[in-house]
Amino acid sequence: MEVLDVIRKRYAAKNFSGEKIKDEDLDKMKEAIRLAPSSFNWQPWKIKIVSDKETLDKLQIASWNQPQIGTASHLFIFCAMDSLVENNDKLMGKMRNMLPAEQFEIYNGMTSQALSSMDAEAQKRMSERELFLPAAHLSLSATDLGYASCHIGGFVSEEYRKILDLPKNLTPIVIVPVGVPADEGGQKYRFPEDEVFF
Ligand SMILES: Cc1cc2nc3c(=O)[nH]c(=O)nc-3n(C[C@H](O)[C@H](O)[C@H](O)COP(=O)(O)O)c2cc1C
Repeated sequence: MEVLDVIRKRYAAKNFSGEKIKDEDLDKMKEAIRLAPSSFNWQPWKIKIVSDKETLDKLQIASWNQPQIGTASHLFIFCAMDSLVENNDKLMGKMRNMLPAEQFEIYNGMTSQALSSMDAEAQKRMSERELFLPAAHLSLSATDLGYASCHIGGFVSEEYRKILDLPKNLTPIVIVPVGVPADEGGQKYRFPEDEVFF
């Protein structure tokens, strides 16, 4: 499908059939997530995937009882990281071997300067802000593969932490259930061009 057709077709699904998505489609969605862009290529996110019905039902209760959660095939939980230091170290470890030495030195200099200018709060904020990009890749990829999805902010992050026993350095920010839709998208309303662009 043309990208714009996929964008037009995506909608916030309110109910899924419970049917499981195919493994090969799940792999494609994960690849779409992995390829999302990020500042300095830090990829500042961790994504927990839940597909067992019992846990989905528990998470639904912690999500204002929204039925998209319990009926989904898979729930993607996009978590922000407290610190970007570990990702930067990992990335520089790889880039040292991938880039010509001179180019690596420039890149390494830029990232360490940027990182040292950010306190813990700023690092977490960057992670929280940027993880919406892989989340958007997911919902568009799911649409392209014939599934539906819904970006969801209506959930209690601390409850998720408890239910999933998440590490302390990760905070769920947005969740995206994906599955076979049991509803259809309604009419879309968006502000007209002249109110959006200036
Ligand atoms: C960050 C974010 C949080 C959202 N939270 C919820 C939610 O908790 N429950 C829900 O049903 N939809 C949620 N939505 C979906 C929006 O309501 C929906 O995208 C918007 O109304 C436009 O409709 P459309 O996606 O069908 O075009 C959320 C969307 C975003 C981007």
